[in-house]
Amino acid sequence: MRIFSGIQPTGSKHLGAYSGGFRQYAASQELGEVFLCVVDLHSITVAYDPTDLRERTLELVAMLFATGMDPERSTVYLQSHVRAHAEAAWLLSAVTTVGELRRMTQFKDKSEQQESVSAGLLTYPVLMAGDILLYGTDRVPIGDDQRQHLELARDVAQRFNARFGETFTVPEGIFPEVGARIMDLQEPERKMSTTGTTPQGTIRILDEPEVIVKKLKTAVTDSGRDVRHAPDKPGVSNLIEIMCVATGESIAAVEARYDGQGYGPFKQDVAEAVVELFRPVKARYEELRGEPGELQRLLARGAEKARAASAPTLAAMYKRMGFVRP
Ligand code: TYM
Repeated sequence: MRIFSGIQPTGSKHLGAYSGGFRQYAASQELGEVFLCVVDLHSITVAYDPTDLRERTLELVAMLFATGMDPERSTVYLQSHVRAHAEAAWLLSAVTTVGELRRMTQFKDKSEQQESVSAGLLTYPVLMAGDILLYGTDRVPIGDDQRQHLELARDVAQRFNARFGETFTVPEGIFPEVGARIMDLQEPERKMSTTGTTPQGTIRILDEPEVIVKKLKTAVTDSGRDVRHAPDKPGVSNLIEIMCVATGESIAAVEARYDGQGYGPFKQDVAEAVVELFRPVKARYEELRGEPGELQRLLARGAEKARAASAPTLAAMYKRMGFVRP
């Protein structure tokens, strides 16, 4: 089975991306062959600083290995190292409509926050569709916020196949059962993210333990005192899910353990569990960050494998679309 996912080198990565992203990537190595793309081309669609992009890219690569990506088994590479991604996006833009791109929730949200909206912000999901489809992908591990983009990739694949002949596998998502959408700790009606949420409500993987503890202890809870997962308890439900992500327990097991205990001890334990979850990740990350030459070497190897894996699909796309081939 072929598995593909992508992650942007923007911001400092947080608990939400850990839950919907990193931990799923590492786990999916047990299911099949994984291609993990650091989507640097996606990160220029909103205002950014070039120096920052370079730094964040290497940080993210180190974080992927620190959270369990195995360079012997899997292919980790940078999107900009494999030209097929940019080319596929252009070709697929012929079978994508402006109407469907405008309907993307993420485009609507992000474009509202900006004075000047880049064309790339609108066409972003086409690039993402190309990422996935180039690799004959069966499964895409993602968080809930990427569901709509994956749907679009599936539509584009089907449309291309119908118009130009069977070329693409139509991929399916893999979403975590618990923790597919981790919410901001201060405003649990918004998803946790590094942009557009409260700094106090976002736990970064690299936060110091005391910072993690403080953020979790001051997380908003709901009225009442029951540790129960329910629609009218968004703050507590989010904390329960965070506990499940950190310990691997089920929601029911966490609820049972804190039955009748109130929020105080529960929040303290969630904080400890998250600190323990990230402690070894952080240590491994620091080691890898100190070896930029090794990271570059792994990336060069990844890019080579990704170029070889994507080339036949790109060639088939050109051919079926009627281009004269060299
Ligand atoms: P990105 O970089 O924003 O996020 C990386 C992954 O983390 C998940 N995630 C979350 N999961 C749960 N709770 C949250 N609060 C949370 N925040 C982020 C995301 O769902 C994602 O899986 N467009 C994509 C990158 C991309 C991609 C692809 C993904 C480009 N091409 C091809 C899959 C396949 C993005 O911006 O993810």
